[in-house]
Amino acid sequence: MKTTKNFRRYCIKKDVMGCSFYVYYKGNHIGGGPIFIDYIFGKKEFLEEHKDCKSVLEVCSGPGFIGWYLYKTLNMDSVHFLDIHKPVEDDLKMTCEINNEELNFYHSDGFKNYDGPKVDLIVMNPPFYYTEKQFENHKKHFQLTTDKQIETAKRITLDLDFKLHDNLISNFKKHLTDNGRIVFLEDLNFISRDFMESKIDENKSGEYKEFCVGREYVGDDGKRKQRPENTIYEEPNTPNYYTLTYYKQTA
Ligand SMILES: C[S@@+](CC[C@H](N)C(=O)[O-])C[C@H]1O[C@@H](n2cnc3c(N)ncnc32)[C@H](O)[C@@H]1O
Repeated sequence: MKTTKNFRRYCIKKDVMGCSFYVYYKGNHIGGGPIFIDYIFGKKEFLEEHKDCKSVLEVCSGPGFIGWYLYKTLNMDSVHFLDIHKPVEDDLKMTCEINNEELNFYHSDGFKNYDGPKVDLIVMNPPFYYTEKQFENHKKHFQLTTDKQIETAKRITLDLDFKLHDNLISNFKKHLTDNGRIVFLEDLNFISRDFMESKIDENKSGEYKEFCVGREYVGDDGKRKQRPENTIYEEPNTPNYYTLTYYKQTA
């Protein structure tokens, strides 16, 4: 068995013994997945909505936190991952090896090289800045100085001129089953829901559902709670994330 020494791990399935499923990852591949599981994908409303899905593709997957989480939590038959950054394949391989799972990774810029099957659910946490200026502000805010820091942050946060989104939006329908739907996670500070809807479907004929989150979330006891300010994955001043789910029209 390979050593897991150089990897961090994140538990997506807790049980009485501790954890029955860890996702393995390198520190520079994380793009916020775990916090969005807490905020959105782990909410019972979200899980209930998609419990009929049997397959999931995480686009812009990095180590695949969200894909693995939904696959395991909703007891799906298969999980697929797509990313432009080939090194994330090592994280996915490690997770597969430790958990005895099959690896389905597609090294692709958007859907350009995706040759996997149609799936019931496509989900993503894509880069959400689309101008150099937005990225410059990010650089200043997080005081990124080295080439390596800047290159990593760019890959994770910048979709210059919205090119990646445009590719995903123009191509996703052919990768969905008849029962399929796609979930975009976006940041309201940069991308409005109206803008996304107009991009996805100019005739506005699709069916949409939205899950909005802020610093507040609903706890296991059903009560509204506030996340602590200093949570490890928290990004100051940007708590306004939402997901927009588009359902494929079959008629
Ligand atoms: C915000 S991070 C999300 C990572 C991970 N899903 C998470 O939630 O932690 C964005 C991811 O998109 C990938 N990415 C950036 N441009 C891409 C492109 N053109 N095609 C596919 N993936 C891309 C990056 O390599 C990165 O892994």
